[in-house]
Amino acid sequence: MRVDLITLFPDICAGPLRESIIGRAQARGLVQIHCTDPRQFASDRHRTVDDTPYGGGAGMVLKADLIQQAVASVSSPEAQVILLTPQGERFTQRSAERLARNHRHLVLVCGHYEGMDERARQTLFDEEISIGDYVLTNGTIAAAVVVDAVVRLLPGALGTDESAVDETFAQDNLLEYPQYTRPARLDGMAPPDVLLSGNHTRIQRWRQEQKLVRTASRRPDLLLPELETMT
Ligand code: ADE
Repeated sequence: MRVDLITLFPDICAGPLRESIIGRAQARGLVQIHCTDPRQFASDRHRTVDDTPYGGGAGMVLKADLIQQAVASVSSPEAQVILLTPQGERFTQRSAERLARNHRHLVLVCGHYEGMDERARQTLFDEEISIGDYVLTNGTIAAAVVVDAVVRLLPGALGTDESAVDETFAQDNLLEYPQYTRPARLDGMAPPDVLLSGNHTRIQRWRQEQKLVRTASRRPDLLLPELETMT
């Protein structure tokens, strides 16, 4: 997969994406991640990338022409061009799976401040993504979140392909069961007996129950999605 990030702040995501699993996935050639700063397309002396909004008001608006040029400079016929914005569709594990499975080239454009000229929004993007109902100072951290969630799903990115199957939100959209490891006693607490029983059928059953108990108490909206729309 190739990922192009279009951001005014390339350093914000360079660090996190260099580390750990995503760094390893790049080293192994599973993904190539490139950053492009739209500032490089600004022709004026101050390299201006934004301007005051028509009609007045606070904040600055990213200029459509520079975003167009930045996207055109990295895009390909197969690219999925995505804007990160709090107004986008909510990003979930299902979105990460869809992007990992269906696309070989992602172009992630990070908005900032008051946003972007609406004409760029209407013409450039295949989709808009929000990572949650809160406002970040710009979309670069949001883009790093999306890249992390997608790249770890690429075949070969995790230690074994198993690991992404048996985790929170995988397949059944339930939270994961509790895990324990050595030492056997910690401050007087022991792991549940069933996990030491060696009986795999019982262990599986216990884990499935725990997933339901945990999801019901922490995220009932995952079991009954209609709850979410009532809150
Ligand atoms: N930019 C600012 N806030 C954001 C959010 N919640 N999701 C995606 N991009 C953003």
